[in-house]
Amino acid sequence: VQPAHQRLYELHDKVADFYHYYLTGTNNGASGYDYLLNRGFDEALLDTFQLGLAPDNSQVLLEYLRQNEFSDQELIDSGIFYQNDYQEWRDRFCGRLIIPLRNERGQVVAFSGRQFQAEQSPQAKYLNSPETPIFQKGELLYNLDLARPEINRTKQVLICEGYMDVMALYQAGYENVVATMGTSLTEEHLDRLTRLSREVYFIFDGDEAGQKATKRAFDLVLPRPQLVAKSVSIPQGLDPDEWLKQKGKASFDRLLEEAQSAFDFQVEYLKTHYNLHNDQELAQYIEQVTQLIAQLNSPIEQELRMKDLAEAYTVSLDLIEEQVARKRQQLN
Ligand code: UTP
Ligand code: MN
Ligand code: MN
Ligand code: MN
Ligand code: MN
Repeated sequence: VQPAHQRLYELHDKVADFYHYYLTGTNNGASGYDYLLNRGFDEALLDTFQLGLAPDNSQVLLEYLRQNEFSDQELIDSGIFYQNDYQEWRDRFCGRLIIPLRNERGQVVAFSGRQFQAEQSPQAKYLNSPETPIFQKGELLYNLDLARPEINRTKQVLICEGYMDVMALYQAGYENVVATMGTSLTEEHLDRLTRLSREVYFIFDGDEAGQKATKRAFDLVLPRPQLVAKSVSIPQGLDPDEWLKQKGKASFDRLLEEAQSAFDFQVEYLKTHYNLHNDQELAQYIEQVTQLIAQLNSPIEQELRMKDLAEAYTVSLDLIEEQVARKRQQLN
């Protein structure tokens, strides 16, 4: 480890402790604390995830870090502090709830700050640390450190979009849960997961953006036969944490049991994006589905899917089989 990195880790560790104490050990933390309890989180969870609150005023943290002999350059390099137009030092997370972002070894490498009071509204809901020598956003899977033992045990991993989803699922006993932090799944994420797990469940938000993210994620996983991917579509446009809170764990278990295969998801997705009453679009749809069938590994499953397709749209089975054979040749 480079000495400069070591200093950044130490700084983040100190800052995480400070924010956590401000939330859980001072009267000023009450509003943030109530917000989290109202969202259904318990006190143990605030400790497990070391949640915090950044004071409205930047001075106390600044003094604390200077007493601990961090230099101005180190404060800037951490991405936590900046100097405004009047050369005043500012904590970029002022007034926000703090979610420390940990790397796979459990070291805090960055922060995300959530707005939680209505009057703060013009700014982004979450503000993240900028990229630094110890934080590359596209590579980090949130919560992989805590999730690893359970991923190891089950060889399954649940992938959500957001911090709150991770914390809610973890609290409910689904400890093998990580989040992409809103960005799309990356090859780096999958490289890591391919070595740890055999099955991945995409549990993105139940809105159109979540569906798109799921589609992209399946496209990425498809060329990796070591990983079996499934997806859960949360009904009613809800986020996973909202569903869990409203419907309970048994209901969430059912969603997991009914998770769709890549094939089923892609077919459903295509169905909603083509007008099947229009013959031209129907033909395109069938072309796309034969492509998906050609990519299936099991000849028996291929046969069953071809029959389904032929029957559903009264197209001759011969024609479908021909198409699939042609697509298979193109694949090889
Ligand atoms: P969402 O907008 O779905 O937020 O973004 P959320 O996780 O459901 O948060 P709550 O429930 O409203 O509190 C999903 C993820 O995208 C990233 C965060 O990691 C968030 O958890 N994101 C979102 C940002 O980084 N910045 C933003 O402004 C919004
Ligand atoms: Mn504590
Ligand atoms: Mn969303
Ligand atoms: Mn949410
Ligand atoms: Mn969300």
